[in-house]
Amino acid sequence: MAQYSRVSGSVGLISLKNPPVNALSAVVRQGIVDTVQRALSDPKVKSVVICGQNGIFCGGADIKEFGTTMSGPPLVPMIHAIEAADKPVVAAIEGLALGGGLELALGCHYRIAHSKARLGLPEVSLGLLPAAGGTQRLPRLIGVPAALDLITTGRHVTAAEALKLGIVDQVTDHNTVDAAVKFALSVKEHSLNARRISNNLCPPPSDLDALFDGAMQRVRQTAHGAVAPVACVQAVRAAATMPYTQGMEREKELMATLFTSGQARALQYCFFAQRAVGRWSMPSGARWDTSKPRPIHKAAVIGLGTMGRGITVALAQTGLSVVAVETQEKQLMEAKQAVSGMLERGAKRRGVAPVLDLVSYNCNLQAVADADLVIEAVFEDMALKKKLFQQLSAVCKPGTLLCTNTSALDIDHLASQTRNPELVVGMHFFAPAHVMKLLEVVYGSCSSPQAVATAMQLGKKMGKVSVAVGNCRGFVGNRMLKPYMEHAFFLLEDGATPELVDQVLEEFGFAMGMFRMSDLSGLDVGWRIRKEDGLAQPGMALGQAARVRQGRRYSPLADLLCEQGRFGQKTGMGWYQYDKPGGRASRPDPWLHSFLEEYRARHGLVARRIDHQEVLERCLYTLINEGFRILEDGIAAGPEDIDIIYVFGYGWPRHRGGPMFYAGMVGLERVLERLEHYHQAHPDVPYLQPCNLLRRLVASGSPPIHRWREVIKKVHSQL
Ligand code: COA
Repeated sequence: MAQYSRVSGSVGLISLKNPPVNALSAVVRQGIVDTVQRALSDPKVKSVVICGQNGIFCGGADIKEFGTTMSGPPLVPMIHAIEAADKPVVAAIEGLALGGGLELALGCHYRIAHSKARLGLPEVSLGLLPAAGGTQRLPRLIGVPAALDLITTGRHVTAAEALKLGIVDQVTDHNTVDAAVKFALSVKEHSLNARRISNNLCPPPSDLDALFDGAMQRVRQTAHGAVAPVACVQAVRAAATMPYTQGMEREKELMATLFTSGQARALQYCFFAQRAVGRWSMPSGARWDTSKPRPIHKAAVIGLGTMGRGITVALAQTGLSVVAVETQEKQLMEAKQAVSGMLERGAKRRGVAPVLDLVSYNCNLQAVADADLVIEAVFEDMALKKKLFQQLSAVCKPGTLLCTNTSALDIDHLASQTRNPELVVGMHFFAPAHVMKLLEVVYGSCSSPQAVATAMQLGKKMGKVSVAVGNCRGFVGNRMLKPYMEHAFFLLEDGATPELVDQVLEEFGFAMGMFRMSDLSGLDVGWRIRKEDGLAQPGMALGQAARVRQGRRYSPLADLLCEQGRFGQKTGMGWYQYDKPGGRASRPDPWLHSFLEEYRARHGLVARRIDHQEVLERCLYTLINEGFRILEDGIAAGPEDIDIIYVFGYGWPRHRGGPMFYAGMVGLERVLERLEHYHQAHPDVPYLQPCNLLRRLVASGSPPIHRWREVIKKVHSQL
C-alpha cells in the first residue's frame, strides 16, 4: 500500500509500504494512484514527495504477480499521471530504485538519492524489458549510449554514477526524505514542462545506425541466444527514432512477446530458485531456519595452489582474518605474492583499500590452532587429505569446523579421521574461487546442522550462491558431468567431431562446448581421476577390451590424448590445436580428425552422420537423467538446487533455467521417450536407462517443477 501525509505545511508525502522491497504489487499501485490523486486535489499541497518505507525506495514490479492474472491499475498510465501532474513531484530514493521503481522515479519531475542508493533497470535479467516507459524515458534523459548500457546489461549504478549520468538531480548523505521535502519546497513554483522527460527528444547520437548496429552485434555475442537483450536494443532504438507515443507502442509490443516467452519463465524461475536454495534442509530434518551458525572470527586455508589462493582471497575480502598455510617455504612465498596481487587488483576494481594485513602466512600447521574454521585445499588425494585431517584434529582447538575443498572425495571417510566428525563438511569451490559464484556445501552422514549452517552462512558472506548437497562421488555438479562427458566421447566414436559437439552445445547457449571447456581446464585432471578409479592405465587403451571397462561401454579417447601429452590449452593441443602452449585461439586439428578415423577403423566402428538433435539429446538427457537419480537418492533436496548448481557453476545458460527446469520445458514424457530410444540403441550405456523418479513423474501426469517434491517424497517414503 501507500501511506499519505502532509508535511512542512505544503508537501504531500507518499510513502510506499510493501516489505521487504516495496515491490509494486496491485495494492501498492492502487495506493499510489489514490494518494497522488489526493495530493493533487488538495489545494494546501504545492508539491509532492514519493519515498519508500524501511530505507528502500522500490524494488520494482512484483515478480510474484507475473504469470498470474494481473489486477489493479497498470503502471504506465499511473506513471503518466504523475509526470502530467501540475505540482512538482520529487522521488526520494533510499536503498534501491530498480526496474519499475526507477521507472516510477523517472516519471517524477526530480530525483534525490541517498549516497548509498543503487539504481538500475534489471528487467533484462528476468527475460523482460523495462516496459513502464523505462526504455523511452532513460535514453531521453541520459542519452542513447548510456541508456543502452544500463538497459541491456541490467547493471545497477551507485548514486554517484547516477548523478554523473544525469539520472538523479542531487545526492545526499543525510536523511533523504528531509532533503527531498526541502527540495520540493524550493521548486514548488517552478515550471515543469522541461522536467517531463517524455516531452524531450533523445540527445541525438552522431551516427545512429553505426551505434545501434554495434550494440546489436555486442548483445548478440554475449547473450548466447537470450532474446531480451536484443529486444532492449530494439526498444531503445525506437526511443531514438520515434516520437514518444509511438516509442511507447513499440515498447509494449516488444514486451508482449517477451512476457509470455519460455526464456522469461526460465529466468524468473532462476531468480526464485537462487533464493530458495538458501532455505536448505537435510534428510535428518535439520533446516536453515532452526540451525544457528557459529560465529567465525578467524579462518585458515591449508594448501596454496590455485584453489587455496582463491579461497584465501575470498575469505579476506569478507573481512575475516586468515592464516594461509603451505608447508614449503618457496611455495609459501610465491603464494603470498600471488594472493597479495589478487587482493590489490580486486580492491582497485572495487575502489576500496586492499586488505593485505588480514592474511598471515605460515609454513607450520600449528599456526591454525586458534582458527574457528579451517578449509583444506591440498592436492586431490585421499591419502594426503586423510593424514591432514588426523593432524588437524590434533592441532585445532575444540569446536573448530574442518572443511575440505574436494570436488569428489568421500566426506564421511575424511570425517572418520577426526575426533569430531560432526564438525566436518565439504566446501566445494569452483576455480577461480574468488570469482566463481557457486559453492557446494557438502554434508556427510555425521555433519551437524550447525556445521552446515556455518558453512552456508560463510558462503553467503563471501558473495557465493551456496547450495547444500549430500555426500556421493562428485556430489551434484561433477556427478552429473561425468555421464555428459562420457557421452560426448561416445559421440566421437560414433562419427561426430569435437567441433560439431561444441557447436551444438554453444548454440544451445553454453558459453563453451564440452571439448573446448575440457581443453581449458586440462585433460590431465580427469585422466588422474580415471587412473585412481582403475579405469585408465597406460596400455589399457589398446586391443578390443579397450572399449569396455568395469562391465560397461567406455571410451579411452581422452586417455589416449593424455598419453600423447595433449593436455589441452596448456600444452597447445588437446581436442583442438592452439597457436602456442597456453594460447587461447583454437583451431580444428587435422591430426585429431585422422586420429579419430584410425581409432574407429582399429575398433571396427563405422562413422555415421550425426545430426544436431542427436548430439543435444544424448549429451543433455544423460545429464538430466543423472539429475533425476540425484533427486531420487536425496543428494539434492529439490530440482532448484541442481539447476542453480548448473547455472552458477557449469555455464548452463540461465535463460534455459537449469537442466531440470529445461526437462520440464521439453516435457518429461518426451525426455523419457528419447532416453528409452537411446538406451535401446546403446544398451551398454547404463546412464541412458531412464531413472525411476522420471518414470514416476511421468506416471503422475508430469506435474510442474514446483510440485516435483511431492512425488520425490513419495518415492523416498517407499524406499
Ligand atoms: N518482486 C517480488 N519479490 C521480490 C522482488 C520483486 N521485485 N524483489 C525482491 N523480492 C523478494 C525476494 O524474492 C525475496 O523473497 P524471499 O525472502 O521470500 O526469498 C525478498 O524479496 C528479498 O530479496 P533478496 O533478493 O533475498 O534480498 P537482497 O537484499 O539480496 O536483494 C534486490 C534485493 C531488490 C536487489 C533483489 O531482490 C532483486 O534484484 N530483486 C529484483 C529486482 C528487479 O528485477 N526488479 C524488476 C522487476 S521487473
